[in-house]
Amino acid sequence: SSVANAAEEVAGEMTDTLIECMDPTIPCPPTPKTPIVDFTPESTVKRIRRPVHLLEREYQEKYKEAVAKMKVLPASNPLSFTAQAAIHQAYCDHHYHYDPDKKNVDFDVHNSWLFAPWHRMYIYFYEKALGQLIGDDTFGLPFWNWDTPAGMVVPALFKDSFANPLYDSNRNPDHLDMVANLNFLNDKSTPVAFNGPHDKAYQEAIYKNLATQMRGAGCARSFLGEKLCTDNISRQGQGSLESMAHTALHVWVGRGGGTSCTGGVVDFQGKTQCANDMGFLGSAGRDPLFYSHHANVDRMWHIWATKLGGEGFKDPEWLDASFVFYDDVDNPHPVRIKFRDVIDTKNLGYTYDAEADKDLPWKDCQL
Ligand code: C2O
Repeated sequence: SSVANAAEEVAGEMTDTLIECMDPTIPCPPTPKTPIVDFTPESTVKRIRRPVHLLEREYQEKYKEAVAKMKVLPASNPLSFTAQAAIHQAYCDHHYHYDPDKKNVDFDVHNSWLFAPWHRMYIYFYEKALGQLIGDDTFGLPFWNWDTPAGMVVPALFKDSFANPLYDSNRNPDHLDMVANLNFLNDKSTPVAFNGPHDKAYQEAIYKNLATQMRGAGCARSFLGEKLCTDNISRQGQGSLESMAHTALHVWVGRGGGTSCTGGVVDFQGKTQCANDMGFLGSAGRDPLFYSHHANVDRMWHIWATKLGGEGFKDPEWLDASFVFYDDVDNPHPVRIKFRDVIDTKNLGYTYDAEADKDLPWKDCQL
C-alpha cells in the first residue's frame, strides 16, 4: 500500500481510536474535540530562523522564556513541551503500526522519505506555539548552526545550569565543550577541545566536519530517503540528510550508557534504552536542543532545494501524504497538512537567515 494511505491511517489513528500508550508515564496527545481542518498556507514570511550562536541577548531571553512557558503547560495540552516530546516518541518508538494487517510492523517517520517533511511540519507547529506563548508571531526557531566552524559545539545558550529552560542534564558531559563530530558514527576518534584556530587538532576536526557535511547529498532518493512501502521497511531507506550529521549529533549529544546505565528510558517495548534524551529517538524530543538541531537539519533541506539544485520527489504518493498536527497553543485543534504544503518554507511563513547562508563554509570542501 502507499505511503499516503499509511499516513492517512496514522492520522486516523491519531484522531479516532487514539493512542493507548504502552508506557503509562508518557502523556499522549489527547483526542481532539474539534474536527480536523486542512492547513492553509501562510500569506507572508514573518519568521526568520537564525543561528543560535549569533543571537543577541534579547533574542536568547525570548527563546528561553518561550520554552519555559511551554514547559509549564499541562501535559494534556498537545503543545506542551511534555506532549511535544511524546508526539515524537509516538512516531518512532514502536507505537503506531504500518497497517492494520501488519501489526508487527512499526510505523516510523524515520528511515525513509517521510523524514524531512514530517520533521519540517513538526518543528513548524512547535515554533508557532513558542511564538504564541511569548506574544511574538515573528519568533523564528533558532538553529544549531553545526555546519559552520563557530557553531560546531553544543551552543552555550543550551548549557549553563538547571535554571536554564534550554538545559538538559541528559547530555554526554564528555562532549559538551568539544568540537561536535559530524561524522561520529563512522569516526570515533578522541574528542577535540573547541579551542580555536591556533590549535592544530581543532583545525583538523573542523576540516573533517566540513568535508563530511552534505556528503552524498545528490538526488532526492539519496538525500531525502527512499520511498516507504509496506514491503520495504528497513533502515536502508535513510537519505544522507538523516544518516549523516543528523544522526551523528543525536548520538554525540545524548548521554551514552552501555548496559549498566541508571535512569535510562523505557521504550514502548518495555526495554531500557541507556542512551538518554538526544541519544535515543524515543526520548530525543525531551531535550530542547533537539528542536534547534532539527531546525538546522531542515535548513540543509532548504539549502539543498534552493541553492544546490536539489529537486524533491514528484510522486503523488509523497506529495499527497499528510499528517495531523495540533495548532494554536491556547485552543489546540488538529490540522491536516500535506507534504506538498511544506516543500516551500514560504508556505509556512518562515525562512532562514540569508546572512548565515551566504558563504557556506563547506561548499568547496566536498571531497
Ligand atoms: Cu525524529 Cu532527529 O529525529
